[in-house]
Amino acid sequence: MFIRPAEIADEKLLWAMLYEASYARDGGMDSPDQLRDVPTLAHYVEDWGAAGDLGVVGGFDGVALGAAWLRLFDAADPAYGWIDADTPELAIGVAPETRGTGLGTALMSALLDAAREKFDAVSLSVRLENPAVRLYQRLGFVEVEGSGKVNPAGTTSVTMVLRFR
Ligand SMILES: CC(C)(COP(=O)(O)OP(=O)(O)OC[C@H]1O[C@@H](n2cnc3c(N)ncnc32)[C@H](O)[C@@H]1OP(=O)(O)O)[C@@H](O)C(=O)NCCC(=O)NCCS
Repeated sequence: MFIRPAEIADEKLLWAMLYEASYARDGGMDSPDQLRDVPTLAHYVEDWGAAGDLGVVGGFDGVALGAAWLRLFDAADPAYGWIDADTPELAIGVAPETRGTGLGTALMSALLDAAREKFDAVSLSVRLENPAVRLYQRLGFVEVEGSGKVNPAGTTSVTMVLRFR
């Protein structure tokens, strides 16, 4: 397994992993390219490499199969798990055939180690039925009280936050 910092050239992989993270297939999209036309999702990746962007890429045998990244949003264009303009929101995806291999845990650990140096906290949005909730809890994320919202799938998504200090 390898983990390395995400570079500007990784934007295509990030679109592919946003497709996984947003369950776009279940929403009827056939390809990551369609995310570009959905502003509330596209803003997680478009123009990747902006100031404040931070990410990691990982995989096996030199093949990138997952990514975790974070980005700051402002009040005028908040993301799903937005808390404030100083708290970046995290997104993560691993290729379906690679899930359950420890890659997601390694990506999260590497990204959070890097984030700790730059930010006081990190947030994310997750569907309550997603098994990833356990991963986030293990790493110290806690649910933000009152953050539950009905998502496009008709289930509940919550905001979780990890405070470093
Ligand atoms: C969540 C995800 C990034 C974790 O990556 P991974 O490589 O599977 O992670 P690991 O092997 O390190 O396992 C860690 C945790 O991931 C979750 N996980 C494992 N396999 C999974 C799967 N097939 N689907 C969803 N989550 C899974 C579990 O929470 C697991 O913890 P557990 O053992 O306590 O159940 C990955 O499963 C994924 O891309 N899922 C679909 C997209 C997604 O849900 N992204 C997050 C949106 S908030």
